[in-house]
Amino acid sequence: MKKLTQTARILRKNMTEQEYKLWSLIKNKQFDGCKFLRQYVIGNYIVDFVCREKKVIIEIDGAQHNINKNIIHDEERTKFLEKLGYSIIRFWNNDIDYNIEGVYQKLQEVLNINNQHPPLPLPRKGGDDNMNIIGLKDKNLYYIGGVVRDEILGTKNFDVDLTYDGDAIEFAKTIDGAEILQINEPFGTVKIKYNNKNIDIASTRSEDYPQKGHLPVVKKIGCSLKEDVLRRDFTINAMAKTTLTGEISDYTGGLSDIKNKKIRVLHDESFIDDPTRILRALKFSVRFGFELEEHTQHLQKKYLENINYDMSYKRLQKELKETFDLNSWTAFEKFVNEKIYKLISQEEFELPKYDFSKLISKYESDNVWIIYIGLLPDISSLPLSKNENKIVESFKVLKNTSLESDFDIYKTFKNIPIESVIMYSSINPDIVEQYFENLHDIKLQITGKDLKNLGVEPSEKYQEFFDFVLRKKIENKDLNLSDEINLAREFFKL
Ligand code: CTP
Repeated sequence: MKKLTQTARILRKNMTEQEYKLWSLIKNKQFDGCKFLRQYVIGNYIVDFVCREKKVIIEIDGAQHNINKNIIHDEERTKFLEKLGYSIIRFWNNDIDYNIEGVYQKLQEVLNINNQHPPLPLPRKGGDDNMNIIGLKDKNLYYIGGVVRDEILGTKNFDVDLTYDGDAIEFAKTIDGAEILQINEPFGTVKIKYNNKNIDIASTRSEDYPQKGHLPVVKKIGCSLKEDVLRRDFTINAMAKTTLTGEISDYTGGLSDIKNKKIRVLHDESFIDDPTRILRALKFSVRFGFELEEHTQHLQKKYLENINYDMSYKRLQKELKETFDLNSWTAFEKFVNEKIYKLISQEEFELPKYDFSKLISKYESDNVWIIYIGLLPDISSLPLSKNENKIVESFKVLKNTSLESDFDIYKTFKNIPIESVIMYSSINPDIVEQYFENLHDIKLQITGKDLKNLGVEPSEKYQEFFDFVLRKKIENKDLNLSDEINLAREFFKL
């Protein structure tokens, strides 16, 4: 069993591209609030993803590590899991790669039909390539931004941005069979229903930043496509691909930057207009393994040496989350070494010596980003949620708590969020390691009910006893329920 748990840990740390892609859709309860765990041990088997509440298991076939797994009597495995009430839904790597929309739809069906086997085939998307997703073609209608970049990189993008070269609202009115769902006149955007899909279309627009660091305002709706792409952040995000022929408009050298793995701003004021782009550059550099091009590096450095602190911290926080939820130590190294943290905290900060990203991978957390960012001395500018605040405050208290014995460590760590414990590894990795390796799984078996059955009336003595037996259990993890009951007899002199 211990070996299986170790294997599951290794698998968790070495997710395949497809597992990672699916995980990014279902983690953090973002799929209808369903909590999924990955590489989870059930009986003698490791399942790829499981939602225990809904009793649904998701398996990806064709993943490297599944080759071994499939040898282990698949049928027996399925029988065993089904006996426990689980439904198993399988996707192929190809489904994840080329039909993530279908996968998403399928999951929605399965998670809503509680405990039933899904006999339906996967819904297929409109065509055979990414650019056919919407099934709507016009020479002035363009895929734009991330979806074009990701198509060139060979990564499928779930978030398809469309821009109409001209007035999108007027265009929408001329589409045969389209129902207009919503019009946003000031931004020139429109939502339509077409072929049973909801599609957002933006008009080409140029923008201005009257208040640097805050949201831009629209300067002109229906500007040229070139003007529209020039308002964007990086060359790799400034390409458009027409829906009609698939021809790419690349006004700023995005294709060559993708080839050379470079992130390049479009003009010298880019970071001044929008400092969140410094974090976006970090995010993209980590996500794609790209580097900032030299002049862009220089502009970033210049901005960070002379920051304008009048900016939207809400937008910064969104980018911080997206970057650090990737759980990348490399991102954190760059963030600290290049002093990007100065965007939110002026106080000097040094990179912790202990790389805790492995701990984060091992112990599931819905709040990865705050483990990194909460280490900064002052993040009062960020609009944290109640839970995020609790994590940071518990860490601060922990810093001033003396932990003399295993008992102290156990009692203290058990009562705070796991994120705060991981944060503490930046200060004292040995103690945190000791906790996770030797203490984390300790659990008393004896309960208040057992004490009552022994004839002990509830009083403050109960807590004293539980602490007493916990100390004993920390010394000897093999104590079982009857040992604990004997200790109760000894303690209460029964
Ligand atoms: N954009 C920008 N400046 C920002 C944010 C976005 O210029 N601060 C532009 C970029 O052209 C980007 C597009 O708006 O491609 C869409 O933004 P977003 O959806 O945040 O990013 P994507 O590039 O689509 O990347 P992701 O895969 O992370 O969604």
